Amino acid sequence: METTQLGKTGVFVSAIGLGGMPMSIYNRPPESDSIQVIHRALDLGITFIDTADSYCKDESDKHHNERLIHKALSSYPGDTSQVVVATKGGLMRPNESWTRNGNPEHLRQTIRVSFEALGGEKPIDVWQYHFPDPEYTIAESLVPVKEAVEAGLIRFVGVSNFSVEQIKQARDVVDIVSVQNQYSPWERQPEKDGVLQYCEQEKLTFLPWSPFGGRRRHQDLQDIPAIAQLAKAKGVSVYSIVLAWLRAKSPTILPIPGASKISSIEDSVSAVNVKLTNEEVQKI
Ligand SMILES: NC(=O)c1ccc[n+]([C@@H]2O[C@H](COP(=O)([O-])OP(=O)(O)OC[C@H]3O[C@@H](n4cnc5c(N)ncnc54)[C@H](OP(=O)(O)O)[C@@H]3O)[C@@H](O)[C@H]2O)c1
Repeated sequence: METTQLGKTGVFVSAIGLGGMPMSIYNRPPESDSIQVIHRALDLGITFIDTADSYCKDESDKHHNERLIHKALSSYPGDTSQVVVATKGGLMRPNESWTRNGNPEHLRQTIRVSFEALGGEKPIDVWQYHFPDPEYTIAESLVPVKEAVEAGLIRFVGVSNFSVEQIKQARDVVDIVSVQNQYSPWERQPEKDGVLQYCEQEKLTFLPWSPFGGRRRHQDLQDIPAIAQLAKAKGVSVYSIVLAWLRAKSPTILPIPGASKISSIEDSVSAVNVKLTNEEVQKI
């Protein structure tokens, strides 16, 4: 698998990652099936897995996805020493909803639980502040994150759902290696709000979330004529075209397609071999 550098860290990870969310929220598969999906991703060379403390059904199930990923990594027969797991904190799941919580005390506590859920033996590879909470300044929320880096609980820090101004505020507190914002054929905000350009300029990895429009919308990709036509012409899936399009957009982009089926991650990984011309990118 082709690799890409995570920010300016000197750490190289697979050019396509795995998004863990569909394996832990509603309609999730049985645990043994999810472990097989993660093992297949590792077989195929994936070394970047995105997760969050909030990828779970509700508050009573918090950290489900982190524990699942740790279980899959520890039961994998091959070498997992190069695998980078990027988790997040700052969202809550009361009654299956999503609410923000940037309270520094909460973040301090959830970082500790994420550390344990991911095995508790080495620092969290990447910890991302999931969604800025307007109840607190970014500097206030990131104080416990900086402390956790200094205490050896976190290796690298990322942010998610941040504007350029908010990324700058975060970087005044702690070193940032990645930015994770929504980006798909329907959601083009990062092209317009300056975030993608800023990440390129500052050498921050950009992780586009829900690249296929998420679980609810991914089947609609077939209805985008430019994408469907290119897929047909190249004999690949519409998903592969979207991943190739994202990767062609910027060298800083590392897609993290979600999957809860082996066939999905197999197809997404095959997209590393799909290349689009400038003209094809323009068409989309
Ligand atoms: N930072 C944030 O606020 C935020 C928000 C949302 C998501 N995320 C992250 O971004 C990741 C990706 O987003 P997402 O999971 O919401 O949505 P997505 O990647 O846009 O779509 C995932 C869905 O597409 C299907 N799929 C994926 N690859 C496929 C393929 N090659 N062929 C056929 N079907 C395919 C999967 O089906 P199956 O499930 O049937 O395999 C999955 O349910 C998440 O897993 C999560 O890690 C972050």
